[in-house]
Amino acid sequence: MSTEKKSKSLRPETQAAQALGRVDEATRAIVPPLHPSTTYLRDPDGGYSSGRGYTRPQNPSYDTPEDLLATLEGGASCILFSSGMAAATAVFQSLLPGDHVIVPRVMYWALRKWLHEFAMSWGLEVEMVDTSDNKNIAQAIRPGKTRLVWLETPANPTWEMSDIAGSARIAHEANARLVVDNTVPTPVLTRPIEFGADLVVHSATKYLNGHSDVLAGAIVTAKRNAFWQRIRTWQGDAGAVLGPFEAWLLLRGMRTLFPRVNQSSQTALTVARHFQNHARVAQVLYPGLEDHPQHELARRQMTNGFGGMLSIRLADGHAAAVATAARVNVFKRATSLGGVESLIEHRASIEGAATPVPFDLLRLSIGLEHPDDLIADLDQALSYTDNALHEVVLPETIKSSETSNDAFSKHVAQICNEHIRPTIQDRGGDIEVLVQNQTVHLTVSGSPGALVPLRDWISGVLKHYIPEIEDVNFEIGDFARDSQADKASDESLEQFINDKINPALSAHGGVIHLTEFRDSVVNLRFDGRCQGCAMAEVTLRQGVETLIREQFSEIRTVVDLTDHEAGTNPYFSPGKGGGAK
Ligand SMILES: Cc1ncc(COP(=O)(O)O)c(C=O)c1O
Repeated sequence: MSTEKKSKSLRPETQAAQALGRVDEATRAIVPPLHPSTTYLRDPDGGYSSGRGYTRPQNPSYDTPEDLLATLEGGASCILFSSGMAAATAVFQSLLPGDHVIVPRVMYWALRKWLHEFAMSWGLEVEMVDTSDNKNIAQAIRPGKTRLVWLETPANPTWEMSDIAGSARIAHEANARLVVDNTVPTPVLTRPIEFGADLVVHSATKYLNGHSDVLAGAIVTAKRNAFWQRIRTWQGDAGAVLGPFEAWLLLRGMRTLFPRVNQSSQTALTVARHFQNHARVAQVLYPGLEDHPQHELARRQMTNGFGGMLSIRLADGHAAAVATAARVNVFKRATSLGGVESLIEHRASIEGAATPVPFDLLRLSIGLEHPDDLIADLDQALSYTDNALHEVVLPETIKSSETSNDAFSKHVAQICNEHIRPTIQDRGGDIEVLVQNQTVHLTVSGSPGALVPLRDWISGVLKHYIPEIEDVNFEIGDFARDSQADKASDESLEQFINDKINPALSAHGGVIHLTEFRDSVVNLRFDGRCQGCAMAEVTLRQGVETLIREQFSEIRTVVDLTDHEAGTNPYFSPGKGGGAK
């Protein structure tokens, strides 16, 4: 391929529509060919004069979409990935275990889940803050340890804005990188690199492709530097690469990016304005509305529109949201966003465990339909009857043993119920909350080995939402530190393991044996055929080891001698032994 002679002064709309104006040298085709070949001919001397050897890092179908996205974002280089999640996780996995990262409280839920379930157990210190106020980022920075600040703006699905330029200054002063998930605004509306971002991440599945038929991700860098090289190595070597056909489809979608984003932005604003004063809508969340708390920031950071995503909160609450979603005809009830067709979703129920999303919220992805058809559809869906609300079955709420009825206790119970309890239930346990003054006492039933690793996270979430909380105390399963404990010995360790740990593990079919205790080093073996499960390993390292160290302060090391390869039964599944002792 050759790049047509063309001035840099061409506008981004033109560059997108013409896919950088490239034509195929061999055929003069103006639509680029697809390259399914996985391998390339070597020269007689063994070299690769074509510059390509193998498809994984080097398929030519990536070249134009990568160059086009880098151009649109104003970056130095771009890498495509097999999904938005592959792109996002590549950034975090290019950090080092022990690094501290600051991420938004409100962000794409699957990434938040991955950060809590995988990245935390892999060794990243993940701290969630409300990034809509820069002061929170500045306060969370740990000099010398914070390596990355992540923003998503507007943030899915409540559409708070974060100030990219201000966050970049704070991150750079601390020698950390600023990464922005630009999936929702796209470079049509926001170019984060111009505001100081180091990396821009996309779920290209959404607006960039735009037709709900490709799963893809991308990262654009402001500079080619060592960290970029690590990300490139991760993609090419670990293999989170896009198929050539998907890359080809993605480029086709990107050619119409501007008219699609512009039109869906305009329609979203029309829809938002229409429902702003609707009797059944408590609030429309859309940065384009003047009453959005960060409308001014949105005006500075977004040009030509505020995007195609908005949410509505229903005055009649959770049941009304579910009932309204059930009644739409033109909107499609489906997850995802950024396609040509409009979608509606009860976000909290899809996010499930630990969602911070209000249960009365419906997320709307506005497509390319006529605005009047979308408005009429939502209007009729909102005309549900009271009977329809009674038919909606809602999940049970938290068991709270709060002694007083005051607002503070209720707030704590609500945060536990909405943000913490689902995660604990996912790990087979449950939670009760007692509030005394500013101290929260949590009784967590279930397997201590699976739940102890959640303690810091639980405290962090509670203190994040309710900064007035002074202390959070835990009682987890059968485990309570015995202050009268003997010094560590074969006998006291065996007794502790059998009394406090094995009863919970037995619900999963597992058992821990003390194989040796010498020189302050404890050797343990996990048996029961469930020891092959990744969660068993996490339980031993982060749960059992923590319990033993808390009980016997002189223990220096806990060594896992388990034959994890020999495991055949899943150790962990939500229904298995939930809350069992
Ligand atoms: C803002 C945002 N970032 C990242 C992702 C993850 O992208 P993918 O589904 O392509 O893996 C999504 C998916 O919905 C998203 O909405």
